[in-house]
Amino acid sequence: MNRILGRSEKPSVIGYVGFRFEQAEAHISTIAVHPDWRGRGLGELLLLTAIEKALDLNMHVISLEVRPSNLLAQRLYRKYAFRFTGTQPGYYRDGENARLMAVDLTSESYRSHLDKLRRHLATKLQREAPGDGRLPSKRPNVGQIDGDTL
Ligand SMILES: CC(C)(COP(=O)(O)OP(=O)(O)OC[C@H]1O[C@@H](n2cnc3c(N)ncnc32)[C@H](O)[C@@H]1OP(=O)(O)O)[C@@H](O)C(=O)NCCC(=O)NCCS
Repeated sequence: MNRILGRSEKPSVIGYVGFRFEQAEAHISTIAVHPDWRGRGLGELLLLTAIEKALDLNMHVISLEVRPSNLLAQRLYRKYAFRFTGTQPGYYRDGENARLMAVDLTSESYRSHLDKLRRHLATKLQREAPGDGRLPSKRPNVGQIDGDTL
């Protein structure tokens, strides 16, 4: 993140992704970007990093849970070809169900899809970042309902 931010001062946490591996499946257990830094491509960068790590480790699938109400996160996952695979009733502490999503990493077509997304994201982060090292300005929020906190 610091390389992308172009900053040299003491780093602070503006985002994280956590995942675990079980046999041939990677599972993303948490992903979040600090509210002040959302909408600038960092969530996508974190997701892409997790996917690339899973590919490096020859995982076949990545799965995750998401709140049905968290449409913004679902949009991010769908962009990376995650599809709904089921529902986990009462998964969250407040009783909300989880939607299960997963993507098959094994196909050639997925690798080329990923290549396109990677190039697009790299261009976006480079092109739009102002010369002072700050990231592109934040896009307007469209009714985000947090599925996680930072
Ligand atoms: C979900 C989250 C990680 C996304 O991070 P982000 O840095 O804001 O996302 P990005 O800027 O990288 O956007 C990536 C994609 O997410 C979706 N997205 C992000 N912000 C959006 C917005 N304001 N409106 C619509 N879609 C949006 C889009 O699909 C976007 O791709 P696009 O730019 O090609 O349209 C972030 O919103 C977050 O931390 N939310 C709270 C925690 C959370 O809900 N975690 C997921 C738990 S399952």
